[in-house]
Amino acid sequence: MNLEQLTAVAKAMVAPGKGILAADESNATIRSRFDAIGVDNTPDNRRDYRSFMFRTEPAMTDHVSGVILFDETIRQHDADGTPLVQYIKERGAIPGIKVDQGPREMAGFPAERCTDGMDGLRDRLRDYYAHGARFAKWRAVIDVSDTLPTAGAVKANAHMLARYAALCQEENIVPIVEPEVLMDGAHTIERCAEVTEFVLKKTFQELFEMRVQLEGIVLKPNMIVAGKKCPVQPTVAEVAEKTVQCLKHTVPSLVPGIAFLSGGQSDIDATAHLDAMNKIGGNPWPLTFSYGRALQAAAQKAWSGKPENVSAGQAAFAKRARMNSLASLGQWDAGMEAA
Ligand code: 13P
Repeated sequence: MNLEQLTAVAKAMVAPGKGILAADESNATIRSRFDAIGVDNTPDNRRDYRSFMFRTEPAMTDHVSGVILFDETIRQHDADGTPLVQYIKERGAIPGIKVDQGPREMAGFPAERCTDGMDGLRDRLRDYYAHGARFAKWRAVIDVSDTLPTAGAVKANAHMLARYAALCQEENIVPIVEPEVLMDGAHTIERCAEVTEFVLKKTFQELFEMRVQLEGIVLKPNMIVAGKKCPVQPTVAEVAEKTVQCLKHTVPSLVPGIAFLSGGQSDIDATAHLDAMNKIGGNPWPLTFSYGRALQAAAQKAWSGKPENVSAGQAAFAKRARMNSLASLGQWDAGMEAA
């Protein structure tokens, strides 16, 4: 393991004014996004869509530090034969790769899930490194209710995250450690805070026990929000305060950076929350974005699978990238959205 190299990559992933584009939807997940805009889920449509995002400037040169790819995309070539990974690298961004194989029902734990993907992981990481990946992602999902999660399910997910992270570092790939407490359901913001704090404490305990070097990871947590169906929704300031407080309780200052998932928040909420946290300031780690839906939803809608809409799709993507870049610096305000 080259810890210096890992740390340099991790710091580049959270460089000032930059964040990560999560474009690693599995073929099943991108199907639901394409269904919503009436686009067939074919390899060529997936390629054309991701190709236009990866060629968008100045989004990719100025606001995006790295892109999380799906297995198909890291091997995919554009119509003219250019590898899609080349577009990312040419614009100074770092290719990354999703290596988990999705959450599955957990034996013995009804209604809870644990993430698959450890089989053959060392060999897959070596192959991905050869294809240009310098960071990876593994997402664990934690469902919330009055009685869930159980300590057992949290422990299993945290352990998998830590084993994955150790293997990544052995192969000189920075692990994005992503324990996502879901915002599905009707739980309150207080319940989200309680569960997230427990999950992050367990995750860092496992990272420590599995000898993961914290200087060479990026944490990708959820923000502290209320469940989507909760009748009482918090203000932007409350989300920002509770999220920063939770992270300060749980995340060692040695971690080079924190890049949030958007998790089903609206585009503007995801931007406003990130901005408010950065306006609080004084945090020991940079706080930035690693958004999927909140960076791409507007671009997908503007494109809608039509070649003549590519520049509209690129403009929509560029706008969200710029708004989130400003938010990562605490320099966004709602008035900029109209411009
Ligand atoms: P969302 O921002 O859409 O939650 O996606 C981020 C991600 O990578 C989820 O694993």
